[in-house]
Amino acid sequence: MPSGVINHYKDFLPVNEKTPIITLDEGDTPLIPAPYLSRFIGIDVFLKYEGLNPTGSFKDRGMTLAVSKAVEDGYKAVICASTGNTSASAAAYAVRAKIKSVVVIPEGAIALGKLAQALIHNAQVIAIKGNFDAALNIVKEITKKYPLALVNSLNPYRIEGQKTAAFEICDALGRAPTYQAIPVGNAGNITAYWKGYKEYKAKGKIKDLPRMLGFQAEGAAPIVKGYPVKDPKTIATAIRIGNPASWKGAEQARDESRGLIESVSDEQILAAYKLLAEKEGVFVEPASAASVAGVINLSKRGYFKRKAQSAPKGKLTGQAKRKAQIVCILTGHGLKDPDRAIQSIEKPKVVKANVEAVLKEIKFS
Ligand code: F0G
Repeated sequence: MPSGVINHYKDFLPVNEKTPIITLDEGDTPLIPAPYLSRFIGIDVFLKYEGLNPTGSFKDRGMTLAVSKAVEDGYKAVICASTGNTSASAAAYAVRAKIKSVVVIPEGAIALGKLAQALIHNAQVIAIKGNFDAALNIVKEITKKYPLALVNSLNPYRIEGQKTAAFEICDALGRAPTYQAIPVGNAGNITAYWKGYKEYKAKGKIKDLPRMLGFQAEGAAPIVKGYPVKDPKTIATAIRIGNPASWKGAEQARDESRGLIESVSDEQILAAYKLLAEKEGVFVEPASAASVAGVINLSKRGYFKRKAQSAPKGKLTGQAKRKAQIVCILTGHGLKDPDRAIQSIEKPKVVKANVEAVLKEIKFS
């Protein structure tokens, strides 16, 4: 059976018979109900667990298309700047396409799992003494002059592939959610989802569009502030970005959907990160928890209650009155950043190797 997002959503993507489909069977990720959060917020909350893509993040949706088109266009190598996940994905899909990958990363600012992925897939990994924004500028310059395909989300095929996640959410719910919460870094993903929802509406697949709720880390919140941040800082290394490439796309998603883009503190990100693991059984990387941290903040401020009261009544036809739904996008797997998980919890206790010692710890004796 044909698999992967290109095969699944061909009619919505810029591919033709000549496009080689480079796929690792990405997409089709679960939309998991979140009972704890739903009770806490008073609205049905679902988690789109993008950490279950082949390389552990949503990047695979865009990478399948970007690498397929690069091969179609005759490229023998791809290059990207990355806070980690893009590089892991580019490296894996380049292997699949039998082409070279070069990744430029900020030195010392990449989670361990992501670095391991890029290295094991034989990417040429170049660490710079600078941040992601500097790395992106470098690869942009290089690809203007040299035959390397740029596979950052400046590449429109990345956005095209990533919009398929919005299709999947609508296919699963039978409608668009009322709200979609998403972390914002380089701002490609929020741009992609909004494009996806609008296209599904244009095709008559959904009637309504969601409000887009984007969340940046407080120390890396250029869109919230309205100007680039020179030295972005956050424990959520994936979204440590000071000058997002798709800034305009994110603002468009926010404004057209009558949503918002706000910031969340590192403490709030870590609290949401632990909550997801401890209460919902879902392990994500810190950046992914920004969407949940943001939703918790909004809920505490009464945002969802106010919106429900001001929603137009009597307009809904057919089935019983529709309940509001929030979908939080969980962009990457928790195993990407094992150091953070271990720092967030108590170390396991070491005891003698006998039954009594273990029972004593369980407090059965
Ligand atoms: N969540 C995770 C886990 C990410 O890796 C990223 C971006 C984002 C959220 C933000 O998405 O950039 O489309 O707004 N990671 C990029 C990378 C920058 O290089 O892996 P965005």
